[in-house]
Amino acid sequence: PVRRRGLIERYRSWLPVSDTDPVITLGEGGTPLVAAEALSEILGCDTYLKVEGANPTGSFKDRGMTVAVSVSAGAGAEAVVCASTGNTSASAAAYASRGGLLPIVLLPAGRIAAGKLAQAVVHGAKIVQIDGNFDQCLALARALSNSYPVALVNSVNPARIEGQKTAAFEIVDELGDAPDLHVLPVGNGGNITAYWRGYVQYAEAKVSTRRPRMWGFQAAGAAPLVLGHPVLHPETVATAIRIGNPASTTAAIAAQQQSGGLFEAVTDEQILAAQHFLASREGVFVEPASAAGVAGLLAKQLRGEIDRGQQIVITVTGHGLKDIDTALSGTGAIEAEVVPAELAAVAGACELDG
Ligand code: F0G
Repeated sequence: PVRRRGLIERYRSWLPVSDTDPVITLGEGGTPLVAAEALSEILGCDTYLKVEGANPTGSFKDRGMTVAVSVSAGAGAEAVVCASTGNTSASAAAYASRGGLLPIVLLPAGRIAAGKLAQAVVHGAKIVQIDGNFDQCLALARALSNSYPVALVNSVNPARIEGQKTAAFEIVDELGDAPDLHVLPVGNGGNITAYWRGYVQYAEAKVSTRRPRMWGFQAAGAAPLVLGHPVLHPETVATAIRIGNPASTTAAIAAQQQSGGLFEAVTDEQILAAQHFLASREGVFVEPASAAGVAGLLAKQLRGEIDRGQQIVITVTGHGLKDIDTALSGTGAIEAEVVPAELAAVAGACELDG
């Protein structure tokens, strides 16, 4: 069997990791690029899902975290801090613990999916719940890292973006070139920035011949990049992207503009419908935020705004098991009836004719 090497070993020449930095890895990256047959049919496009929930802690954050924590440890850090809507804190907690560093995570109180909170707990993070939203947590994390000996591992740390760009490398390596269109959910703006950097660097190095258009989708109640101004009180069922003032606003807009792409908003209803579609039609269970890209594509398809015949890659950013409360509260509620332990009763419950 092929050993999962981890990103730093695989793409070291493209990354800011020096020979003296320790390599703190959990075998992240190398995630499945799944042909999305139902979506391809609907869109009339050759469509793939980059399934980032397959990373060690269940989200794309692991790509940035292996690099950020390795570089921080190499620089002598003994503690790391991040603000998070959940996934960054889960990843920071795992990688810091593995590297022997103390993880400190600042979380908006009561707004973190249970699975993500559990990850921070079991990995032994120092958890501080803030009576405020993500944007306030990030301001505090920056201030803490400026005044105390703790390294900031949010995506304002350049090592994070560097690690995350490897997802674009993997897509080109697997497809043989960049797709026509890359679609992803956008919250703090780090990931769209990272993908664009990856695509641009591969094109400049002539590994690929072209660069995709970048389409970013935000939740309607938390859509500062669509509105063109910060949102003071962001709200959405997709807690991962409940962000009103993205740290990477400038770079995210640059990615959209330089690629000839766009930012659009999708409603919570559309997000939950897309989550259900992915699970029931493609066999891929993602958390609500991760379904925003698919929600956006389906909405544009209905409006006749998708050209047929394109090659499309959609990043689905995090695993569905992170937030089962939301998944079960909607269309997926448990409805299974209890029957006696008898074959006829089971067959009857399944409505099978015999
Ligand atoms: N999807 C998921 C599942 C996320 O957790 C995030 C961000 C995004 C999409 C948006 O990515 O911020 O790079 O534009 N989660 C951060 C966190 C904010 O704290 O886990 P982005």
